[in-house]
Amino acid sequence: MITRRQSLQQILFASSGLALLGPRALSQQPATSVEGSRSLKAHAHKHGLLTGCAVSAADLRDEAFTRVLAAQASIVVAENAMKFGLLAPKPGVYNFDDADALVNFARQHKIKVRGHNFVWHEQLPAWFAGTVTKDNARKVMTDHILTVGSRYKGKIHSWDVVNEAVNISDGRPDGLRKSPWMELIGPEYLELAYKTAHQADPHAKLTYNEYGIEDESEAANKKRAATLDLVKRLKAAGAPIHALGIQSHLSAKSPVYGKGLREFIAAATAMDLDIYLTEMDVSDDDVQDTDTASRDRRIAQVYADYLAVTLESRAVKAVLTWGLTDRHTWLNGIKSHHEKQPNRDQRPLPFDPDWNPAPAFFALRDAFDKAPRR
Ligand code: GLA
Repeated sequence: MITRRQSLQQILFASSGLALLGPRALSQQPATSVEGSRSLKAHAHKHGLLTGCAVSAADLRDEAFTRVLAAQASIVVAENAMKFGLLAPKPGVYNFDDADALVNFARQHKIKVRGHNFVWHEQLPAWFAGTVTKDNARKVMTDHILTVGSRYKGKIHSWDVVNEAVNISDGRPDGLRKSPWMELIGPEYLELAYKTAHQADPHAKLTYNEYGIEDESEAANKKRAATLDLVKRLKAAGAPIHALGIQSHLSAKSPVYGKGLREFIAAATAMDLDIYLTEMDVSDDDVQDTDTASRDRRIAQVYADYLAVTLESRAVKAVLTWGLTDRHTWLNGIKSHHEKQPNRDQRPLPFDPDWNPAPAFFALRDAFDKAPRR
């Protein structure tokens, strides 16, 4: 029987071009109704894809979270626990508790783990600035990679060895970011990081992870070109690099995904790289609409449009969202992401704050169903 609400939904879908997502995208149902063969991981697996999300240390202590996580994810990544600043409270002193907890949880539930990340310009230890100099920077970096990489050797699906090394506005001809690592070591820090990571964990897929390379803007075009150049240089230097991470922090404001992204994925594939969508979410800060259901549909449509373009390539092997439920998302914790709609929480993730699968959940699952098998 079709209810009045459902038929209204169908009219809405038809008139907004959202018919693709189907009427169930609007109905509320408990998380348990989308488990087993109906889960994201089951649908992804049928098409040779891994799927999962970033997990915080607090998430892992939350029973509701871990239950849904185990039901939905075939791959996870630590939201913060494996970053240098969180692992190393003092030079040479490590606290692995939170990172170990995630790796152990994943092993218990047969979930793969991404390592994130060895080398980044953010979330460095507080002691970094006063301690690391041009003389010891190479050793600090390689010691860190060897310490962490060896601890989890054989347990990591892929490591984000370097995160966000490109920043066109820094003005270097090679497009590289003037990060602390660049200032202290020079551009060869990249090659050194990949070679060291390979030494620490020879089976992990070594990944370069970047943001701002998704849409059709001029800025994204330039960043994509600089990213490909960087990978080419690394390969030419004999650095082991196996995959590209496209972070995929997207916005619901009339985004366009297409030609540039397709060409980028094709160029990476031609270089023998796998592609992972590593940090997907959709910000609705730029959307005026006050109606939650219609915002949710716009967000889901962005998931659908973006995944249609990316998953058509068999090189894309994994899709991770940056969080699992709108209850906990970095977008609600950071002021700059709340500038336009300061009094409203964002809803960027597959589950809503009450653990109902959101329209984004169904968009993800439908996109897996439509993806060519790999
Ligand atoms: C970047 C980093 C992630 C995370 C997100 C959002 O994309 O790669 O580790 O910090 O920002 O917080």
